[in-house]
Amino acid sequence: MSVDPAIVAKIDEGYAKLQGAKDCHSLLKKYLTKEVVDNCKNKKTKLGASLLDVIQSGVANLDSGVGVYAPDAEAYTLFKPLFDPLIQDYHNGFAPNQKQPATDLGEGKTHLLPDLDPEGKYINSTRVRCGRSLEGYPFNPCLTEANYLEMEKKVKSIFTNIKDEELQGTYYPLDGMTKEVQSQLIADHFLFKEGDRFLQTANACRYWPKGRGIYHNKNKTFLVWVNEEDHLRIISMQNGGNVGQVLERLIKGVKIVQSQVPFSRDERLGWLTFCPSNLGTTVRASVHIRLPKISAKPDFKKICDGLKLQIRGIHGEHSESVGGVYDISNKARLGLTEFEAVKQMYDGIKHLIELEKKA
Ligand code: ARG
Repeated sequence: MSVDPAIVAKIDEGYAKLQGAKDCHSLLKKYLTKEVVDNCKNKKTKLGASLLDVIQSGVANLDSGVGVYAPDAEAYTLFKPLFDPLIQDYHNGFAPNQKQPATDLGEGKTHLLPDLDPEGKYINSTRVRCGRSLEGYPFNPCLTEANYLEMEKKVKSIFTNIKDEELQGTYYPLDGMTKEVQSQLIADHFLFKEGDRFLQTANACRYWPKGRGIYHNKNKTFLVWVNEEDHLRIISMQNGGNVGQVLERLIKGVKIVQSQVPFSRDERLGWLTFCPSNLGTTVRASVHIRLPKISAKPDFKKICDGLKLQIRGIHGEHSESVGGVYDISNKARLGLTEFEAVKQMYDGIKHLIELEKKA
């Protein structure tokens, strides 16, 4: 089956728009060459997804950092001339012949991550999350309304079966949630934001809020996001800098969820996610941290880059720092184990705190 000429024309237009955009620094622009366009524009996955589904968010949002999403698992191989070099660039040089190591969440090793800030001088909170995709389902742009509802039903049944007292809680569907409750959950950093333009233009918000929701335990230290960017985001968070404790709870939660539904995993790319920046471990370990002295220095970003850390504002991705508080995390998620990804953040933050003390 060939790709609709109108779609091919849109791909060509997208390429031309990126070429003309001088201020665009996305990985999409960097790796969507004329050769890649010509190689990929007439290809379609079995579910009917084209290169347009991959690039449309980055074409619409020229301020994207990455700019691409995979509409289904097959897209990562079918459109590899675009994905492979982009993945290599994002994830510390993970080459096309490299393979994601076996999962190691760090069971039995969390004591190696003692509190980074026992006196509570720098770190407001610590969070570790991972993403999972339910086996047998594509990603957002290819999901039907029935798929969303069916997936929500499956994961809800996992939640009702959680026996562990600490992790027990309630599932709150977005559909029917009052605006006040929703806004409060977002402000407190528990719930995803609504209307992310990167996701919207990737066709990832269809049928919203159907099938979307959040599960959390009573203390709001264990959370699961359902059908936002990924099918599942499993999250452990708490105040302070005790990374080991946060990871310990995440491991417990992932094991429970994992024992009840199978997830999509690729031989080479590890756990599969909608965005290539999350492949492999899918682990983003982060702290909200105050570093008033060193963060004011012009080379702060360079120091973080060197430590393989990524800086964000505290109100999520693409937000600015507020009151000198930064969200700092590991950047790469692929080509290392889950424990190593957390350790990368741990070691980097430890170093930053030392620099702050000396400054
Ligand atoms: N597509 C957005 C960009 O390129 C987000 C990329 C990474 N973040 C994510 N949530 N997947 O800036």
